Amino acid sequence: MTDLVCVGCGPGDPDLLTVKAVKAIRNADVIICPTSKEGKTSIAYSIITSVIDSSKKPEIINLVFPMVKDKETLESTWERNAQAIANVIKSGKNVVYLTVGDPSLYSTWIYIQRELKAKYPEIKITVIPGIVSMFAFASKVGISIAEGDETVAVIPACYDLSRVKETAKNCDTMIFLKDGRYFDQVITLLKEAGFSDNSIFAIAQDIGTDEEIVKKLTLGEVTKDAFTNKYFSIMVVKRV
Ligand SMILES: C[S@@+](CC[C@H](N)C(=O)[O-])C[C@H]1O[C@@H](n2cnc3c(N)ncnc32)[C@H](O)[C@@H]1O
Repeated sequence: MTDLVCVGCGPGDPDLLTVKAVKAIRNADVIICPTSKEGKTSIAYSIITSVIDSSKKPEIINLVFPMVKDKETLESTWERNAQAIANVIKSGKNVVYLTVGDPSLYSTWIYIQRELKAKYPEIKITVIPGIVSMFAFASKVGISIAEGDETVAVIPACYDLSRVKETAKNCDTMIFLKDGRYFDQVITLLKEAGFSDNSIFAIAQDIGTDEEIVKKLTLGEVTKDAFTNKYFSIMVVKRV
């Protein structure tokens, strides 16, 4: 049985791939790429195309992970995709599974790893960490995520607003990930939770790509034009 290597591909700029990630990708016979829709190019794959060893001509396999909340659909997807991966590994090839950013943060890999460990314990798994989008973002806008005794919360944008407010009351830096179209919903409640108008407000979409947009304002300056309209968005609000 050959190993499976999960590669964290970083936030978008191929120059932010780790040396270890590049080595694993160049050594791969098969590259497995998660995508949200049939026929849609995997974002993780688009990050790594320039480093593939073309003389090796690796096989590229797209696996669809639909963006739905229905538990049954999700579980059957994880089961089916884990089985497909296990079948490829059984063929004795070097197999790499790609994820955007780091594999341990809101990634399809988390579910695949859980399935593989439960049903195919003979597969030896290696995970190569990647640069997390929110850290790439912090370096772009020139802010710290946390300093001294500050606390940080990471919130996915499919939130329970009362929970966000309770978290915000006890936190210095709030990092919002996932769908930017919902980010505007939390501005009033952050103010109610004690974030002053001077708080740092930074927002970005598609970091590290040609579509990149990055803005830094104060919370008091935010208007509806400040927001992004993409799934690949990050918003950071930090107490001052
Ligand atoms: C499914 S999560 C994956 C997070 C990823 N594993 C990481 O370590 O950053 C996808 C979310 O990460 C954030 N994200 C990842 N890469 C990004 C980028 N290049 N630009 C903006 N947001 C990004 C967005 O909030 C996006 O909706």
